[in-house]
Amino acid sequence: MANVAVIGSQWGDEGKGKIVDWLSEKADVVVRFQGGHNAGHTLVVDGAVYKTSALPSGVVRKGKVSVIGNGVVVDPWAFIDEIERLRGQGLDIGPENLKLADNAPLILPIHRNLDEMRESSNSIRKIGTTKRGIGPAYEDKVGRRALRVIDLADPDTLEDKVAALLDHHNALCRGYGREELDGADVVAKLKAIAPQILPYMDRVWNYLHEAKLAGKKILFEGAQGILLDIDHGTYPYVTSSNMVAGQAATGSGMGPRDVSYVLGITKAYTTRVGEGPFPTELLDDVGQYLGEKGHEFGVVTGRSRRCGWFDAVLVRQTVITGGIDGIALTKIDVLDGMKEIKICTGYKLDGKVIDYLPASAPEQARVEPIYESFEGWEGTTAGARSWAELPAQAVKYVRRIEELIGAPVASVSTSPEREDTILVKDPFQD
Ligand code: GDP
Ligand code: IMO
Ligand code: MG
Repeated sequence: MANVAVIGSQWGDEGKGKIVDWLSEKADVVVRFQGGHNAGHTLVVDGAVYKTSALPSGVVRKGKVSVIGNGVVVDPWAFIDEIERLRGQGLDIGPENLKLADNAPLILPIHRNLDEMRESSNSIRKIGTTKRGIGPAYEDKVGRRALRVIDLADPDTLEDKVAALLDHHNALCRGYGREELDGADVVAKLKAIAPQILPYMDRVWNYLHEAKLAGKKILFEGAQGILLDIDHGTYPYVTSSNMVAGQAATGSGMGPRDVSYVLGITKAYTTRVGEGPFPTELLDDVGQYLGEKGHEFGVVTGRSRRCGWFDAVLVRQTVITGGIDGIALTKIDVLDGMKEIKICTGYKLDGKVIDYLPASAPEQARVEPIYESFEGWEGTTAGARSWAELPAQAVKYVRRIEELIGAPVASVSTSPEREDTILVKDPFQD
């Protein structure tokens, strides 16, 4: 059996949506296993653009089943809005092809409010979150106070569960000098949305187990990227979930051996949204050029993404911590026409050369990149669908990246369009 996990190897927005959509032709089931609607995945099919956030990108293809696992945090209102939005684009989405884990925690309006309040406060460190309530919802999950999808099926107990949750949140409100929250309002809202959510609810661990027994191919769709991982990322400037490959199992109810190939989606340069260290960031015209040519604007918040050169130190590290078998290199076409391209191959930290990102946040902010310079290529990679179409110098760039990160390139993406992709190794084939 060959199941594939697609995970971001940088700070998110590497082009996971495009690659998941391209690969899902070969899959039967597409599963989200972490994060929430902080994700923004773009798919382009024959010129039509689809954006998924809470839903797996599999919803775009007919005949596939999309699954939201227990590792995801779910905002019930955003979930329904997204279904409606995508139905408006002609997609057929219903309980027969979309399953929501009964044990997934809920994001409530109180989580979004808390996220927004912290981000706008002058006394709390700003992370630059998507303000979707992701962090506060995961805090309640780990704090064993969260409401979960299954709780919507038992409306009589909602009042007590919300009251227990508000005990905690109202203590925070008092501490922050904010007005206390009224449980009745949250309960009424949950009771009103429950009939729309419950038809999608399923025992996902069991659904996936049966799919496995039936020989179905499962594609796990990661959100964000390993540098935003709560354990292995640039803490505290991270999101609140794990995106390393092991999470595909934890966040869906399958076992670690059920993932046979881990594909790390890797942009041919680097971007980041929000605050935090970024050693190869370009604050000059080149950075601006990459942002414009690569259309580097956030799908969820519309913020401009910070841009910089490819950082092989970081990707070498995330290949290891993420459990990545091979990478899909994306957006190489954005580098077409550049005279000089740089790759970061090491860092200088307080006069010493190192080949890793230190765990200490102040040290992460102090490292200085050591670059290798590369001559750009004549001709273009844009729209190439075979290796033979790539200019020789572009091939050299790809080969050098493989060497530096210690992982092979399994595919190369050359435009936002689904089919503009070069297959080197089929991850579903052992
Ligand atoms: P995700 O969050 O990893 O799914 O990535 P996003 O969708 O947030 O951002 C990636 C952006 O790059 C989207 O606008 C994609 O349509 C686009 N994209 C993906 N692959 C390529 C590529 O190979 N070349 C170009 N030029 N754009 C790409
Ligand atoms: P996709 O799946 C890029 C970033 C936010 C912020 C930090 C914490 O499209 O790659 P959060 O709202 O999660 O608490 O914010 O994480 N972030 C992303 N950056 N792509 C994403 O998702 C992201 N999801 C969260 O910008 O810095
Ligand atoms: Mg994105």
